This record gives sequence, structure tokens and C-alpha cells, in this order.
Amino acid sequence: MVNLKKNFQDVLEFTNNKVCLVRVDLDMPIINGKISDFTRMEKIIPTLKQLIARNSKLVLLSHLGRPGGKIDNSLSLSKILPHLEKNIGKTILFSNDNIMSPKVEKEIKKLEPGSVLLLENMRFYKEEENNDLNFSKKIASYADIFLNESFATCHRNHASITGIATFLPSFPGKIFEYELKNLNSIIKNFETTMSIAILGGSKVSSKIGIIENLLKKFNKLLIGGAMANTFLYAKGLNIGKSFCEPKMSSNAKEILRKFNDRIILPNDVIVVDSEDSEENFSIDINNVKNNQIIYDIGPKTRKDFYNEIIKSKKLLWNGPLGFFEKKPFDNGTNFVSGSVKTLNKNRFFSVAGGGDTISALKNAQTIEHFSFISTGGGAFLEFIEGKSLPGIEILNK
Ligand code: 3PG
Repeated sequence: MVNLKKNFQDVLEFTNNKVCLVRVDLDMPIINGKISDFTRMEKIIPTLKQLIARNSKLVLLSHLGRPGGKIDNSLSLSKILPHLEKNIGKTILFSNDNIMSPKVEKEIKKLEPGSVLLLENMRFYKEEENNDLNFSKKIASYADIFLNESFATCHRNHASITGIATFLPSFPGKIFEYELKNLNSIIKNFETTMSIAILGGSKVSSKIGIIENLLKKFNKLLIGGAMANTFLYAKGLNIGKSFCEPKMSSNAKEILRKFNDRIILPNDVIVVDSEDSEENFSIDINNVKNNQIIYDIGPKTRKDFYNEIIKSKKLLWNGPLGFFEKKPFDNGTNFVSGSVKTLNKNRFFSVAGGGDTISALKNAQTIEHFSFISTGGGAFLEFIEGKSLPGIEILNK
């Protein structure tokens, strides 16, 4: 468990008329050139409004996608600008000039109290991901304060997350603090509380550390999604042509040996005979045929998962339980996450985050019933895994 030594309230006391570099995460999913989910932007609006009300001069830094140190106009932050302006309710300046140029420096010097300047995608500069010292020092020289309001990137050791923070008084943003508070609550005090973790998504290989860490803390781990296939395969069951990671089979076997009574795997599944087949069948996990592909957990498993959740007081959810992007294979996720809706929020604490989780729970229309939704993908998973995150460490120095 990591706690922050400084807080957002501290910074509010002296932002008046000061240039404040704010690292935000405007990296939102883009489908067919359009942003498909604005959660990350919407969450930071109250912080920005509070700083504006305190007459701060805001310079926003963010990345979008992974342009790899090169300019890629399809990943320009200019496409986010109108949405940001609409949400904040004021004009926002935008500069796509080189961040190291005198032009940008001059523009920052000219900022009026209460104004906001958005700079172009930080990952257009190779120095960002290299965490270049001179690059960080130069950008820091434009400002008085650094604020990290980007929990979702704090697992990255990049200039705009750790580098700049070494040269300026640095503070966490309001949402950053809230992330830590909620994520700490979900992983603490396990002795007295019945707790369940649900993992879905596809790869065991990217979540092996998380699986082991969750099993140290949570009473039960329910596994769905394509990730379950690797465990079923490790148990010697036929999973047909379903996605699986055979190379992770020995790790899966070892986990099952150590924690067998606390891991619940699907005992029935929804399968198709081929990828483009319109028909699907609900079958017992022992009856999967060689040609079949598992796309969702079956009705019996849904009920089992649901019944486990309603006995618990804490739930951590990461990853969809089936191929939710294609109906009706979202039914498993929809049904099981419906359990959160029926539980009394006062005695039940539920947290979801990581990867596709937000999209899957939005699709299920159950997202608003969770106590907390993390904005983090990789950062959420690494935090839960118990890793130390550079973006948090630097704020505590
Ligand atoms: C995320 O989407 O999880 C964050 O924006 C970090 O992005 P990255 O994985 O490309 O560093």
C-alpha cells in the first residue's frame, strides 16, 4: 500500500498567478478517427476548474497513443481541444510548436491568470519516453509548479511524469489522490472481509504477477474470458480452437496446485463452430469439440460467479468475461456485473479498472453501480500487483 505525502489541497494554496504544468491523460480510445470514450477527460475537469478559479496559469501536457517519438497528425491533441473547451466552458489555447522553441516559452510567459494552454502530444518528442534530462529541465523552467493528474501514466518513467517533477515543487491532482485512496481501500484489511477478484481478458502472460498477488489477498479469484482457457487447458480439458497460451500452461498448473480451492473457473461455456458462425451453443466444459471456439462463460458459470459475488463485501474487477464486443457474447459480463447493481452500496465496495474493463462495463450498463472506476490501464494493474510506480515515487520524494 502506498500513500501520498503531499496532497492537492496543498497546491491550491499557492497557485494564484503561478504557471502550473499539469500532466493529464487525454489518451482516449479512438475508433474510426473519433474518440469513443471520454471518461479520462471528463474526470479531470473538476481539477482544472478548481485551478482556473484560483487564477492559475495552466499548461497541459499529455500524450495520445504511441507515436514513438515522431509527429503523427492522426494523434494530434488538437482533436481533443474542442471537447476540452466544451467541458471546461472556456477557450483553450493550443500550440503545436516545438515545446523547446522560444515561441512556446514566450506563449507561456504571456499567459493570463485563469487561462489554459494545451501543448501538442508529448510523445511526438523522442526525449519524452527517453526521459531526457535537458528536455525535462527546459520544460520545467517554464513553470512554477508541477501537478500530476494522470494516474493512468504513473507506471511510466517519462519526462512529463517523472523528469519534470524532479525540477519543480510537485503535487498530485485531485483524481490522482482519489485513485490511490480507492485502490488502497480495495487491497487492504483482508482479514475480516470476504473479498472476490474477477479477472477476464485474454492473456495470462501479462497478468501472472497480478494473479499471484490477488490470490495472496482475496478470498476467491473468478477467472473468465480467454484467460480462463489457458487454465482449462492446463487442467487437461479440451478447449477446441479457442485462444490459449500453451507456454503459460506450467505457470497455470502451479497456480492451480497452490490455490485450487480459491480459484473458480468456468464449468460451462458458450461456443461457436467457426469464427463467422451465426449459431452458438451453451455446453458443459467437458464437452467442447476440437473445432469449437469458446466466446463466453455459460449460464451455470454466470450464476456461480454471481452467487459468489453476492456473498462478498469487496469486489475487484478487471477484464471482460467474454468476447463482449460481439453480441451476444457480452451476456456473461452483463449478467455477472449485474450483481453489483443488486448489492447495497453501503456495505459493498467494488472497484473496476484496466484495459477493456470500462468499455465492457459501459456496454453492460452496470458501470455506474461500481463504487470506483479507475482511469488506469497498465497503471491500475501494476498498482494492484504491488509494484512501485515511478510517477507516485517521485511525488513522495
Ligand atoms: C493508458 O492508456 O493506459 C495510459 O494512457 C498509458 O498509455 P501507454 O500504455 O501507451 O503508456
